[in-house]
Amino acid sequence: MGTGTIVTVVGARPQFVKAGVVSRALVETGVREVLVHTGQHFDANMSDVFFHELGLPVPDHHLGVSGGSHGVQTARMLEGVERVLQEVRPDWLLVYGDTNSTLAGALAAAKLHVPVAHVEAGLRSFNRRMPEEVNRVLTDHTSELLFAPTEVAEGHLAREGIPAGRVHRVGDVMYDAALHFAERAERESTVLGDLGLEPGRYVLATVHRAENTDHPARLRAIVEGLSRVAAELPVILPLHPRTRGALRDQGLAVDAPGLRVVEPLGYLDMVRLERDAALVATDSGGVQKEAYFFGVPCVTLRDETEWVELLEAGWNRLAPPTDAGAVADAVRGALGTRGRTGQLYGDGTAAVKVAHILARFCGAAGCAE
Ligand code: UD1
Ligand code: UDP
Repeated sequence: MGTGTIVTVVGARPQFVKAGVVSRALVETGVREVLVHTGQHFDANMSDVFFHELGLPVPDHHLGVSGGSHGVQTARMLEGVERVLQEVRPDWLLVYGDTNSTLAGALAAAKLHVPVAHVEAGLRSFNRRMPEEVNRVLTDHTSELLFAPTEVAEGHLAREGIPAGRVHRVGDVMYDAALHFAERAERESTVLGDLGLEPGRYVLATVHRAENTDHPARLRAIVEGLSRVAAELPVILPLHPRTRGALRDQGLAVDAPGLRVVEPLGYLDMVRLERDAALVATDSGGVQKEAYFFGVPCVTLRDETEWVELLEAGWNRLAPPTDAGAVADAVRGALGTRGRTGQLYGDGTAAVKVAHILARFCGAAGCAE
């Protein structure tokens, strides 16, 4: 293959959102993108819906790898991505975020001396027990081009000795996506009416982190805490498959009055629900930021967050789910609050910047940089 070809590896829901905006920008630069879906997320409402709504092309390669232990999953992806790289021989490999698909892509490329570009570089929780923390540290240290979303992320990379010349602070591509799709969500999504919700009169909750789902006491605290809130204000919980499985395995019922469990939502419905929520309670990285993009207060159901600027700006507060009271009190305390305004995640042109820098490094014709 040769000049101007990038292999992009995606596999999990948040990566489809990020790739949606960057892929579109790459088309404009003349770079050829070969899209690889590892298969990590595979249900139609965890994968296909995002390709459809965000206009992502059908993947050129689908590796069909899902489930299994971290080791098995990552190893099978590594093998699959290596095969694609040997066939395509791209100039660069592009990965997003911190999932097992991210690490497998980066490792496969590094071993074949294909330079790696990492979008959302420099995020740190400083908790090495999180699988995502291991994935992001290793990916950053394998990458030649690191796209940091924030000043904090850039600082982490500098402190870890990554040469400044490799790091580009471009803003957050998720902000670009939220800006781009909010209006469409407003026009096209009927989710509020479908669920019988009034704008500003419900809480939107998501839970999927292993540190919550795989610890029965924490999962119980979240379910019971949200159940208490639901007695006062409807709570909508689009349930991630990991969480559905954990609730079943732990014999935990989610049936409190006002607490509404729904299937995972498509991006447009999710954006619509985020925009009109009174509050968001979540352990998701992406959803924390989206709450801020839409000026909605957020309670993060974790012990720490990578997106510390949201805490400092007053839009987000941590609520480690130690017991039901802690969760319910945090939500009640945050309702109606607002943080400071500002532009923490760039100006909505992160994806264009990523595409132009990549095009320049690929030597593709038509690059405007
Ligand atoms: C993964 C990422 C996490 C990210 C999240 C986004 C890792 C280590 N974790 O976690 O960082 O925040 O995606 O949502 O990469 N499942 C289904 N259907 C699906 C997808 C998953 O049934 O469409 C099941 C899997 O078979 C598995 C479980 O859900 O049993 C967890 O999926 P997995 O991809 O391993 O991890 P996530 O919890 O989704
Ligand atoms: N999301 C969605 N439907 C849902 C839950 C999340 O479209 O039911 C979107 C959300 O708006 C955000 C992304 O998925 O853009 C975040 O993914 P997730 O929470 O799974 O992962 P994380 O960001 O924590 O890695």
